[in-house]
Amino acid sequence: MERKQFLKTLGASAAFALAFPCLHGCSSDSGDDGEAEGNTPIPTGIDFTLDLDAPENAKLASNDGFVLKNLVVVAKNFEGEFVAASQVCSHEGFAQVRFAPQLEGGIFYCDVHSPGSRFDQKGNPLNQVDSKEPKALKIFKTELTDNMLRVFE
Ligand code: FES
Repeated sequence: MERKQFLKTLGASAAFALAFPCLHGCSSDSGDDGEAEGNTPIPTGIDFTLDLDAPENAKLASNDGFVLKNLVVVAKNFEGEFVAASQVCSHEGFAQVRFAPQLEGGIFYCDVHSPGSRFDQKGNPLNQVDSKEPKALKIFKTELTDNMLRVFE
């Protein structure tokens, strides 16, 4: 039996599963190691500076972008303020936290598990993913001097 015939006999959903085995947990916008695995340690000792003129930080020029660095999500909200949080989700430690400026005034979120963890910009949990008590997301301080953004604890 040829491959095409074989896929036809499996049906569309099975063919889809074979063709796209990595829809969840595999990310093309990876910033750091450990993204696809749980129990990643929450970053500690964070103290780094981003040059906002550098091309790799260009997404922070607009009031809705974010960048990933050293397991930290550094974002600029709609008010033009810089906010930073752990890229490691407090639910099960997957480094999949991202920033969604358009949701609820700007939230950090992780969609590894359904329905996904949601946090406000202070790291307070906005929902509960499973029966576990939701934990806060670690937040970092930011300080802008000229075009240099310091992210620290
Ligand atoms: S690890 Fe983020 S929702 Fe479970």
